[in-house]
Amino acid sequence: MMDQLQQQIDAYQNEIAAATASTPEEVEQFRSRFLGTKGIVKTLMGEMKQIPVDQKKAFGQIMNAFKILAEEKWEALRTSVAASVSASGPSIDLSLPGDPPPIGSRHPVILMRNRILSIFQRLGFAVAEGPEIEDDFHNFTALNLAENHPARDMQDTFYLSQNPDWLLRTHTSNIQIREMEKGNLPIRIVCPGRVYRNETISARSHCFFHQVEGLYIDENVSFADLKQTLYFFVQEMFGKDVRVRFRPSYFPFTEPSAEMDISCMLCQGSGCSVCKRSGWLEILGCGMVHPNVLENCGIDSSKYTGFAFGMGVERPALLKYGINDIRLFSENDVRFLQQFTPAT
Ligand code: PHE
Repeated sequence: MMDQLQQQIDAYQNEIAAATASTPEEVEQFRSRFLGTKGIVKTLMGEMKQIPVDQKKAFGQIMNAFKILAEEKWEALRTSVAASVSASGPSIDLSLPGDPPPIGSRHPVILMRNRILSIFQRLGFAVAEGPEIEDDFHNFTALNLAENHPARDMQDTFYLSQNPDWLLRTHTSNIQIREMEKGNLPIRIVCPGRVYRNETISARSHCFFHQVEGLYIDENVSFADLKQTLYFFVQEMFGKDVRVRFRPSYFPFTEPSAEMDISCMLCQGSGCSVCKRSGWLEILGCGMVHPNVLENCGIDSSKYTGFAFGMGVERPALLKYGINDIRLFSENDVRFLQQFTPAT
């Protein structure tokens, strides 16, 4: 019995010594022939039952050595095939063109913001930015809104619990204060950014939105400069046929103050649901900077005057792109957002 098995094992040992492999498939064939669950090593081990008791130990040692031989050969074949595969390079075609990365698109609010800014940049306004988390002074007090001023009611916001003096800015006028504090006159800036208000969210208003505000301070700046600048802006933005009107208004930081309307471009002024049948669309607030604001920032109000204006970005974007719900801008649905980037 033992002799017969020994002969078989000798033959297999010769086979193992002579085995070669040049592909991973051949390595696998070797493994399953000798070391697989139905392979030669397992089968021979199964013969153990038939071995007389006094020879079991010797047979066990032979089988152990045989198993190690097969395992070592398998390991050697594997290593040499792996080395030759990596030496001959990866089996991918590097000359194929890659998968193109998805191209992003500009957000419609940012497209509109850039259009607004570029019109004022052509008039010599520089772009200035500032913090969204602001202190009470730069958002309210410096703008002539004392702590208990009723006009604060128009711009309720969100406060930070760590510090009762901190809040989310309600307008980008904080940037104008910060620029005036620097004291480099004259100042001619446009201030884009995100702003926050404690308001109920609906199709027409949100608790955050974007603004572009503007400020021009120099000697002899007049209301005529304000009107002409804004008229130029409207014509560039909405076309030469659009009419404007100024309505007296109130802001604590400007005096006199006005609201500027443009004739509704959807109904040409005859009245529709967008302009609430009035024929006019309200697009911005403006006025001459209040002397108190200049003095709060250390500017001599007997020497300098200036005008300021502020507009929302979402509303003109809704009009331009024919969108009827402001919430779509912040839902991050890429299918919606992709539609507005001009084809290049
Ligand atoms: N800061 C005002 C607002 O957010 C807009 C404005 C700016 C009005 C400058 C007049 C002058 O409502």
